[in-house]
Amino acid sequence: MTREVWNTRTGFILAAIGSAVGLGNIWRFSYIAYENGGGAFLIPYLIALLTAGIPLLILEFGLGSKFLGSAPIALKRAKKSFEWMGWWGVIASFIITTYYSVIVGWSFVYLVKAFTLGWGSDTGAFFNNELLHVSDSPWNLGNFSYPVLIGLLMTWLIVWVIEKKGVQAGIEKSSRIFMPLLWILLIVLVLRAITLEGSINGIEWYLKPDFSKLTDIKVWQAAYGQAFYSLGLGMAIMITYSSYLPKKSDIVNNAFIISLADGAFSFIMGFAVFGTLGYMAYAKGLGIEEVVAQSIGLVFVVLPEALNMLPGLKTLTAVAFFLCIVIAALSSLISLVEAFASAIMDKFEMKRSKAVDLTICFGLLFSLIYATRAGIYWLDIIDHFINTYGLIIVGILETVAIGWIYGADKIREWANAYSDIRAGIWWDICIKIIIPAVLLYIVYRETRSNLAAPYGGYDPAAIMVGAGIIVLGIIVSFFMSFIKKEIE
Ligand code: PHE
Repeated sequence: MTREVWNTRTGFILAAIGSAVGLGNIWRFSYIAYENGGGAFLIPYLIALLTAGIPLLILEFGLGSKFLGSAPIALKRAKKSFEWMGWWGVIASFIITTYYSVIVGWSFVYLVKAFTLGWGSDTGAFFNNELLHVSDSPWNLGNFSYPVLIGLLMTWLIVWVIEKKGVQAGIEKSSRIFMPLLWILLIVLVLRAITLEGSINGIEWYLKPDFSKLTDIKVWQAAYGQAFYSLGLGMAIMITYSSYLPKKSDIVNNAFIISLADGAFSFIMGFAVFGTLGYMAYAKGLGIEEVVAQSIGLVFVVLPEALNMLPGLKTLTAVAFFLCIVIAALSSLISLVEAFASAIMDKFEMKRSKAVDLTICFGLLFSLIYATRAGIYWLDIIDHFINTYGLIIVGILETVAIGWIYGADKIREWANAYSDIRAGIWWDICIKIIIPAVLLYIVYRETRSNLAAPYGGYDPAAIMVGAGIIVLGIIVSFFMSFIKKEIE
């Protein structure tokens, strides 16, 4: 079978940006900045991008384009015994797929509601009771929330249609529509936010630099964690996407463009988020610290309330906001699905059409768990573990395996061959020393805090199930690498 290729360099760049820009850019970056030194946080963030995000992206692009395979096969071609690491990235991606799709499902429901501000005046009650019908414990699944189920099915249907069409006609083409639209929506949202009364106070909170924070190790941990997550490193995605590059592709410059675009999106989005929060605090006569929120609470509870309070252009802003969420998350979801489907295609020499059907069937099946009344608990628990013990661990494995065993210099030479900017010896140092050391430290800190107290105050048994799923994923990864039927 001949491997699919991107039609144009721009198409590849847009698809990779589509994967990187996701919910994290919207609901996490600005909050992390706010908590970790405001404007001063840009310093550790940029350093994290330059010393970890970009170098690892170059490594993953190098692997994919050199070995022309999805993560397991690319790593296997570097060295036979590396294959399971690729599978661990693929399976971690799959686990994320199952709940990420549900968040896209919620977003679709909100997008429809946005036309009439249909979430009503009590946005917390709408989200928790009316929409999710959250039960009292992770063990009480109850039945499905039907609006969520419909949103979820719609999400899978769209992903299915795009994935079936393949790299050029599906992923590349949709990125060419989604990405420009996403940036337009971003600009619309920022303009609306900064023209609101009180927005400047919010933005001041977002960016007021506190340089004393730079001596706090937690701030650096946050910067590296966010840079890493945002680019979707260690998730088999960037290896897969770069395996569709034509020969003689620029690797290094592409990695810079994609990472900086991703960082810029996050930074600019912060003006929309904190501008709107600033307005809300002003309108309610509260301090910013009383309205600030992140993650699910920000997008599905706090901002809908702020949208209710806008002095004008309510519907337009609400629709723009949820469309932005849907597009950002959908293009990331597509990349997650592609990482899995592509690995199956390679391993079993399966046709795209069949691999996509299989991936979507399994994905849909497992995602149903999160559409139950206890879904949000499981989403929270599994998301917590997979980020540390999925992405970060794979990042460590990749850098050690390729940097030390296979040879960083071989990938560097490959990456430099057709690149405008050339990676120097600094790159080897980042790959061999800085990245594994920093990531190892993050795992150590996370493990310590996980052992000190059960995450989120959940029932320890539920935590065990969450952690158990991760362990199961690792076992399956080994198993996959032992199955024989495969291309060499
Ligand atoms: N990077 C995406 C975000 O910021 C999420 C993502 C993580 C996508 C892992 C793919 C893989 O939301």
